[in-house]
Amino acid sequence: MRHFAMKGSTASILVTMMFFQVLTIAAARELLVPEAIFVFGDGALDVGNNIYLPGGAEVGEPRRADQPYYGMDFPGGTPTGRFSNGYNLADFIAKAFGFEMSPPASESLPNHSPTKMEGFTGVNYATGDAGIRNFTNGDITNPLLYQIGFFESTRSQLKSLLGGRKPLNNFLSKSLFLVGIGTMDLFPDYNLYWDTPQNDNLTEVQRLISLYGEALTTLHAMGARKFGIINVGPIGCGPAIPSVIQGEDGCNAGMNNVATQFNRALPPLLSSLRSKLNGFRYSLADFNGFTNATFTNPSASGFVNTQGTCWPGYLTPCSNRTEFWYRDAYGYTTEQAAKLAATAFYNGTKFTVPFNFTRLFTTKN
Ligand SMILES: *[C@@H]1O[C@H](CO)[C@@H](O)[C@H](O)[C@H]1NC(C)=O
Ligand SMILES: *[C@@H]1O[C@H](CO)[C@@H](O)[C@H](O)[C@H]1NC(C)=O
Ligand SMILES: *[C@@H]1O[C@H](CO)[C@@H](O)[C@H](O)[C@H]1NC(C)=O
Ligand SMILES: *[C@@H]1O[C@H](CO)[C@@H](O)[C@H](O)[C@H]1NC(C)=O
Ligand SMILES: *[C@@H]1O[C@H](CO)[C@@H](O)[C@H](O)[C@H]1NC(C)=O
Ligand SMILES: *[C@@H]1O[C@H](CO)[C@@H](O)[C@H](O)[C@H]1NC(C)=O
Repeated sequence: MRHFAMKGSTASILVTMMFFQVLTIAAARELLVPEAIFVFGDGALDVGNNIYLPGGAEVGEPRRADQPYYGMDFPGGTPTGRFSNGYNLADFIAKAFGFEMSPPASESLPNHSPTKMEGFTGVNYATGDAGIRNFTNGDITNPLLYQIGFFESTRSQLKSLLGGRKPLNNFLSKSLFLVGIGTMDLFPDYNLYWDTPQNDNLTEVQRLISLYGEALTTLHAMGARKFGIINVGPIGCGPAIPSVIQGEDGCNAGMNNVATQFNRALPPLLSSLRSKLNGFRYSLADFNGFTNATFTNPSASGFVNTQGTCWPGYLTPCSNRTEFWYRDAYGYTTEQAAKLAATAFYNGTKFTVPFNFTRLFTTKN
């Protein structure tokens, strides 16, 4: 058959190709709802793990989103452990896919695992201040590899709930793995690897990227196939950056540089994983670029203030919270910023490569 086709005239091959192309275009695209969402990362995606962290005299207290004004715009108006005035990025991405909000914090579940499949929407392992390196705040938070360890527990429980390895792998291959990490590793105050003299910025960025790649490879080996990856924001901007180290744009160029170096290394990392790992698919969301675009033209998306903070940590928060990008001095964003970013990543054209999150779950049929 193959031999015969190769012998056919060029014209007939062309006609055949055109026929298939028409079929492809005509085929309805169906948007599938993910079986579940598994979230890994730091405070931008945390929905309450920080509240459960032990902390203590020896290691110190983790930052916790359990005080007044966190969650003031969340249904119920009370703190939920989100570093936000309302929903966060994990919630809005889950909502876009048709879920009510992010799946629950892993620390709120017995052994980080569901007890039944009914109502199961996934697990969120993201924890405030977590890094790629264990060393980055590892004493007081759940770094990426701990989070993956918790996922291992979830996975073995799912295996028995679903009835074996095959249904498990099928389930995981149709789930979204949402990952946003790296920000904390880029701060020399939190990641002491920056301090070693032989370690220049680029070297440490390359090490972080290689550790990140190993972590994603581990998740793939555990059955993850569809990844939504979020890059790091312009860490040199924000209300906590002392004015003496700010440039004209209100940002620290050196810190933004290191974020840019990290973000530039992500596309080659992900495309190499895609070519190495069977079935690995990803959409890389450019949170940094989205932030930059918003800062360049804030009023286009209704922002009035993209440098200061809605809540400096005392008094009461600003009343017009949809006008601020930053919620607080830690650089966490408002609910509004998260909402707009999620929309751009889910079904936009400009801030995702090679395609938007929707496409990860779109099939031709
Ligand atoms: C980081 O933590 C994980 C999970 O506890 C452990 O398996 C790994 O060996 C640790 N890595 C380093 C470099 O300490
Ligand atoms: C190296 O990274 C640090 C930490 O983010 C930053 O403060 C510094 O300005 C960077 N140096 C250069 C040359 O970009
Ligand atoms: C935004 O992007 C422009 C062009 O790449 C760059 O010059 C500028 O420094 C960026 N600003 C921030 C805040 O990252
Ligand atoms: C928010 O509202 C106050 C008055 O309610 C106003 O002065 C201010 O300009 C508004 N916008 C920002 C970003 O503060
Ligand atoms: C995605 O955006 C396109 C173009 O704006 C729109 O036609 C489509 O309905 C959107 N799809 C989803 C799933 O939101
Ligand atoms: C996002 O991707 C989907 C699937 O490829 C596509 O239908 C949709 O138009 C994209 N959204 C935009 C705004 O281009």
